[in-house]
Amino acid sequence: MKAAYTDSYLQQPEQLHISEVTTPEPAADEIRVRVKAVSLNDFDWGIVAGKPWILRFFLGWRRPKVRISGCDIAGVIDRVGADVTRWQAGDRVFGDMSGSQFGGFAEFVCCSESAVAALPENVEYSAAAGVPQAAVLAWQALTLKGPLNDGLRILINGAGGGVGAYGVQLAKAFDVHVTGVDKAAKHVQMRSWGFDAVVDYQAEDFIATEQPYDLIIDTKTDRKPWQYCRGLSPGGAYVTVGGKLGLHLLLLLFAPLIRIVTGKRLGIVALHENENLSMFARLLGEGKMSTPIDGPYPFEQLPQQLRYFLDARHQGKVVLVMADTDA
Ligand SMILES: NC(=O)c1ccc[n+]([C@@H]2O[C@H](COP(=O)([O-])OP(=O)(O)OC[C@H]3O[C@@H](n4cnc5c(N)ncnc54)[C@H](OP(=O)(O)O)[C@@H]3O)[C@@H](O)[C@H]2O)c1
Repeated sequence: MKAAYTDSYLQQPEQLHISEVTTPEPAADEIRVRVKAVSLNDFDWGIVAGKPWILRFFLGWRRPKVRISGCDIAGVIDRVGADVTRWQAGDRVFGDMSGSQFGGFAEFVCCSESAVAALPENVEYSAAAGVPQAAVLAWQALTLKGPLNDGLRILINGAGGGVGAYGVQLAKAFDVHVTGVDKAAKHVQMRSWGFDAVVDYQAEDFIATEQPYDLIIDTKTDRKPWQYCRGLSPGGAYVTVGGKLGLHLLLLLFAPLIRIVTGKRLGIVALHENENLSMFARLLGEGKMSTPIDGPYPFEQLPQQLRYFLDARHQGKVVLVMADTDA
């Protein structure tokens, strides 16, 4: 099969080549999925590059234990292990492979039967491939500090990517006001996803607002935790899903003290892979959630598209499709 295989850590996406490797066989409790579409996430490159360095404690210090990266896939099951009861060949599925052995940047991937959910017939593979990590992170962030309620003022920082795209759609099931922060060039598309207001982080500081937010979700944490309190309403919550690791540690350390002194709550989302995937499948099938697809691009363009993604030139989810995939 064709796969983006590497047995050493790479410096640049252009060094990642697609080559012929042995097609994996599913273990007794696994399924094998013929990948139709795969989307890009930060983690995909982290595995290939071994960065941040802390990843190497888990993924191999000198060489990657994971030889084929790729988390979020959609495809069709082509083989099932002897002990698998939930699935059969021909089932359309999607899921995040990061809790299994990764491997989504390939024509076939094997994973545990719980790593995927069924995909409704009317949902295209390319739309489903965008969902797993970004929608799960967005939903976890929206609900980490309590249920969503009508009337909330919500802000998503770094909102031009996957978490912003799904986050605003999920939030808008309620009567809430959602502001998105990203570069001005992305604002037209962000408005089309449902953002009520947009802020250009290169021109304006969203913390210095006269109308504070009840919930701030951040994909790009780059300040000390107490600095976010200024942008929060009394009892408001700040939730980070990404950004600088050192600042996350600082947040963990100071969140209890900040809560006591200000009443404001700070938290970190740790991805629960594939949580609520069936809910997202239903929303996609009913047309209540959609994936803003950047692409889809041919799988062969993976190195170029990884570069494009790392340069943050994308809007929504960058999706790549295999040659025989029409959607
Ligand atoms: N918590 C967990 O367990 C977990 C697991 C997996 C992934 N993650 C993290 O979750 C996040 C996923 O977000 P995503 O998929 O939406 O990312 P994304 O697609 O890369 O989007 C992030 C957006 O932020 C913008 N941006 C960059 N710097 C910014 C700044 N200083 N202020 C405001 N916006 C800025 C980027 O565009 P421009 O650069 O063009 O402005 C981009 O549009 C990533 O940070 C990832 O590392 C967390």
